[in-house]
Amino acid sequence: MKFKLITYIAAISGMILLGCSGTKSRSTSGTAAISLYERKADSVLKLMTLEEKVGQMNQYNGFWEVTGPAPKDGDAAKKYEHLRKGWVGSMLNVKGVKDVRALQKIAVEQTRLGIPIIFGYDVIHGYKTVSPIPLAEAASWDMDAIKKSAEIAAAEAAASGLNWTFAPMVDVSRDARWGRVMEGAGEDPYLNSVIAVARVKGFQGEKYDEFHLAACAKHFAGYSFAEAGRDYNTVDISDNTLHNIILPPFKAAAEAGVATFMNSFNELEGIPATGNHYLQRDILKNRWNYQGFVVSDWGSLGEMVAHGYAKDLKHASELAANAGSDMDMESSGYVEHLCALVREGKVAESKIDEAVRRILKLKFELGLFDDPYKYCNEEREKQTIGKKEFLDGVLDVAKKSIVLLKNDKQLLPLKKQGQKIALIGALANDKTSPLGNWRIGADDNTAVSVLEGMQQYKGNTLTYAKGADVATGKTVMGFKTHVNVTDKSGFAEAINAAKQADVVVMVLGEHGLHTGEGRSRSELTIPGVQQELLEAVHKVNPNIVLVLTNGRPLAISWAAENVPSIVEAWHLGTQSGHAIAQVLYGDYNPSGKLPMTFPRNVGQVPIYYNHKNTGRPGDGQPTESVFWSQYNDVDNSPLYPFGHGLSYTTFEYSNLKLSGNSFAEGGNIIVSVDVKNTGKLDGKEVVQFYIRDLVASVTRPVKELKGFEMVSLKPGETKTVSFSINKKTIEFYSANKIWEAEPGEFKVFAGGSSATKLEGNFKYTVQQPQRP
Ligand code: BGC
Repeated sequence: MKFKLITYIAAISGMILLGCSGTKSRSTSGTAAISLYERKADSVLKLMTLEEKVGQMNQYNGFWEVTGPAPKDGDAAKKYEHLRKGWVGSMLNVKGVKDVRALQKIAVEQTRLGIPIIFGYDVIHGYKTVSPIPLAEAASWDMDAIKKSAEIAAAEAAASGLNWTFAPMVDVSRDARWGRVMEGAGEDPYLNSVIAVARVKGFQGEKYDEFHLAACAKHFAGYSFAEAGRDYNTVDISDNTLHNIILPPFKAAAEAGVATFMNSFNELEGIPATGNHYLQRDILKNRWNYQGFVVSDWGSLGEMVAHGYAKDLKHASELAANAGSDMDMESSGYVEHLCALVREGKVAESKIDEAVRRILKLKFELGLFDDPYKYCNEEREKQTIGKKEFLDGVLDVAKKSIVLLKNDKQLLPLKKQGQKIALIGALANDKTSPLGNWRIGADDNTAVSVLEGMQQYKGNTLTYAKGADVATGKTVMGFKTHVNVTDKSGFAEAINAAKQADVVVMVLGEHGLHTGEGRSRSELTIPGVQQELLEAVHKVNPNIVLVLTNGRPLAISWAAENVPSIVEAWHLGTQSGHAIAQVLYGDYNPSGKLPMTFPRNVGQVPIYYNHKNTGRPGDGQPTESVFWSQYNDVDNSPLYPFGHGLSYTTFEYSNLKLSGNSFAEGGNIIVSVDVKNTGKLDGKEVVQFYIRDLVASVTRPVKELKGFEMVSLKPGETKTVSFSINKKTIEFYSANKIWEAEPGEFKVFAGGSSATKLEGNFKYTVQQPQRP
């Protein structure tokens, strides 16, 4: 291996300079001590020209794949030239040991200082072995399974030469029209926070060995609050919502040591996030003392021109650098203009130094200065990708992600013998759709279909009929963009199969590529002719098990009323068909709970459980009444609430008890509740605890999730589950614009969903000063 000598001198001098005194922590938040890696970064920084420093702040897309609007010619010649000059600090969308090594070789051997490149990629829910989409995984409420899934993704991606993933997305999402709800953990800040921590730990591990990579908390901030759920649209939210709802998962990720942050496309208070000083410097880098670096989103720096915030790319670069955006993804703004801006005194060189120091620090932490080819081992690549244990791991989380929405006539679990089953729906025989939207490392047709999964169960007669295509038209970027709204030529065959069957399993919903970035919808119905197919089949055989595969909550009021069993199966990844079949046949008793509210219709959106009460609470009011905050044509309540999910057994909650009726600072209250398995099968239940702050300096939600625990119960068994409430539990961003606990009265709720009515009361009191 041939590395630049100068790099080594720099790295080693950093170590000698320090002796043993530097801390080797890679914490990215809250530590004042200068770490060994920061000192090493400084030792390299000293050797760099301004051009080389700015080069570190430049990230280019590779030459083959795109995940955003790309320059027409791909700009390959310019990019290679810049690479050789040392003007590229990072690349995205280059993968595979061979390609990564080739580009790393240029950086290390042909540039003056030989500083290695960091290679980023959207490893969102798996790499080659695909996990369920993040929204689905969130439905598992199982942090060990979610962490394991991130570990699998990290191991495969790292074996493929990558060392940085643009995940987790921790945007709290309330609007199902927004296509990217599939990429996050749903509508609750607390659930998003604990999942963010699990994912960061899974991706990054205890240390950056060759099976882990750097993670990235995105999109900072507010992106999911795009008006009307239209991707990239304007965001206009209060500081209260920003701090109480949007920021907590980012803070949790920062405290868990996430290596990087990504800013976002949207504006906030009229200022695009990429140029937003308040977000990036005031909150993230100052208030939170975050020591990692911030990468822009794809082209978001340049997009500040279209926003009407910067007059040209140079101006945008000035605004972004001053606001604390450390790396420019694919706008070329920094590489083209930042040196001039420094020379003109518009951006202080100290700001450049600060950004580069953060970037170099991560390269040291990852071990790239010690061995730039650490992630480039062909043998490991071959041995690691697609390992059997990875397939088992993603199957496990896939089963846990499934949510049983309804099971009225006990059609489920299916009998294993002597049944005639009709399996209907194009998505039942699709080996690509289950891979979901962000499966860019995986190949088409590599998921197990529902048909294949059900074929493993040989005791029944299984007849498959497509019924109708989901997508149609031209293929663009690997998928058919249009939904089939006309072609019903397969209906007759499906109806015929249904007529002969004891039970009909219908797999309907959205294609995996009809959700995700840039895939907003204005309707939330089951797309195209599929709803008509469902109704036509129902006429001849109402014994239907509806298996939904989709990337967002759907409005399925008709099905909820007419179909006896509904299973929410999302896009579950490589092992999808096995996971679904095992749940349908009862080899896995479903335990998932919804991480996002299902609306009755699109007009209710955004609908979320942790809403405010308003001055005229309309819940429970008849629809014909007026002067209440409700609709005249639909109830306020959701179709399925946040936290809802059934099992093949049943659970009963009772005996909610509190250890006291008040506590003061330093104290706590223990809440406990009994959960009994009242059915006939072993089952798992996610016991959820919510609170409500009745009166506060700013209005508080009607319920807020504060804790949960998964319990396994045998038939007849009861367990007592407890939860501790202390000052931290009741803190919020108050009228004083700080996080604090205010004295007052609270309710606490426990149950199997956010709709639980089992409640108790407590007070938080201010400690009276002791008399002398
Ligand atoms: C997305 C990011 C993603 C980036 C790189 C953007 O369009 O918003 O989430 O990480 O592209 O692919």
